[in-house]
Amino acid sequence: MKNIVTIILAAGKGTRMKSSIPKVLHQVCDRPIIDYVLEIAKQVGSLKKIVVLGFKAPEVKKQLTADCITVKQRKLLGTADAVKCALSKLKSYNGDVLVLSGDTPLLNKTVVKNLIKRHKRTKASISFLTSVVHNPQGYGRIIRDDKGNAVAIREEKDASAFEKNIAEINVGVYCFDCKQLKLGLKEIKLNAKKKEFYLTDLIDLSLQKGLKIQTVETQKYYEGLGVNTREDLAQAEKHLRRGILREFMEQGVTIIDPETTHIDNNVTIGKDTVIRPFSYIENNVKIGSNCIIGPYARLRPGTKIKNNVEIGNFTEVSRSKIGKKTLMKHFSFLGDAIVGSNVNIGAGTITANFDGQNKNVTRIENNAFIGSDTILIAPVKVGRKAITGAGSVVTKGTSVPDNKIALGVPARIISRR
Ligand code: UD1
Ligand code: MG
Repeated sequence: MKNIVTIILAAGKGTRMKSSIPKVLHQVCDRPIIDYVLEIAKQVGSLKKIVVLGFKAPEVKKQLTADCITVKQRKLLGTADAVKCALSKLKSYNGDVLVLSGDTPLLNKTVVKNLIKRHKRTKASISFLTSVVHNPQGYGRIIRDDKGNAVAIREEKDASAFEKNIAEINVGVYCFDCKQLKLGLKEIKLNAKKKEFYLTDLIDLSLQKGLKIQTVETQKYYEGLGVNTREDLAQAEKHLRRGILREFMEQGVTIIDPETTHIDNNVTIGKDTVIRPFSYIENNVKIGSNCIIGPYARLRPGTKIKNNVEIGNFTEVSRSKIGKKTLMKHFSFLGDAIVGSNVNIGAGTITANFDGQNKNVTRIENNAFIGSDTILIAPVKVGRKAITGAGSVVTKGTSVPDNKIALGVPARIISRR
């Protein structure tokens, strides 16, 4: 049910990234960080999505989905000011508002849904997400009273030495009663140290007015990770990628060493396929079942591999189709190739697919045997059960007929004895 308006804060420059690219456009697992946040807004069923833009607004806007409303924050005066800007689009709205930070790619929809549920059920004025983390540095710390109630969020710059040791942090995801939010924002004062208006000051202010505050804690410590530095970016990448691998393992794929295996989004892998260490599998790759991939294999976009195929060490396959039971076990490159089933690709085989202007296709038919160190200068075709000799160079435009042998440099076609 759609019963909340979502505001996404994405105006910040991301100074700590030391980048000319807006922080929310940096990529995690090949997708901009903001994509993950937009996805959460969609999954929780937002009535409207309002995105606050600032630094390089047109560039960020291009990345948004068409249903987003945007608003520009003229001066980057902090998170409270950013929310205030978004409220200019909600003048007559008095329902609940969900605020997300544009820099939290690991958020999980279930915990955000729980937060919204708790907020509505308890009729709280503010509800927000917290996480208990190993290294709370840089985050707002949660201050609780002796009954365990959250009474304030203390930003790093304002925290005492004691408060800096608190491991429970503010994730930057809040539900607000819009009416109270509008009133509260008017009371926030400029933080003298950071010269910003802190949204987090609302906790303290609301309590003083006797309003109800609720918190929900994330299940995993990393779900609330905010990307502020390149180090955070690498952490986010690590956790998301581990999540992708976990899903494959749950579906029956063996991944021998998750630490050294890279698999992008948008990859499918069949049951009982084994991915050996140091393999790098990119977007838009399909692998059948019972295959063996790697160690040290790179499968690039547009590659489709049928069942029972082996792609061994130091191999690269790009935009190619490989039929069932084909073997390509050592040091080879296939680009723009269409390979049938039961083919043997000998060690050192190279498709020379690029002639300087165009990418050309190599066709290798069923049961062909490509000898070690063959160079196939595309466009080229090797027929059914045809053979290429070790070290042969099959020149551009050649079509090796079925059952024939191509030998030498440049390759001559001879018949089988
Ligand atoms: C903020 C929180 C902190 C929390 C952390 C979680 C405040 C004051 N602090 O700190 O308690 O632990 O997030 O990650 O809110 N933004 C704007 N306009 C601005 C400033 C920021 O749109 O003027 C956006 C940024 O683009 C970003 C988000 O708000 O997406 C959070 O800002 P950021 O500067 O990353 O805040 P933190 O220092 O991480
Ligand atoms: Mg942040």
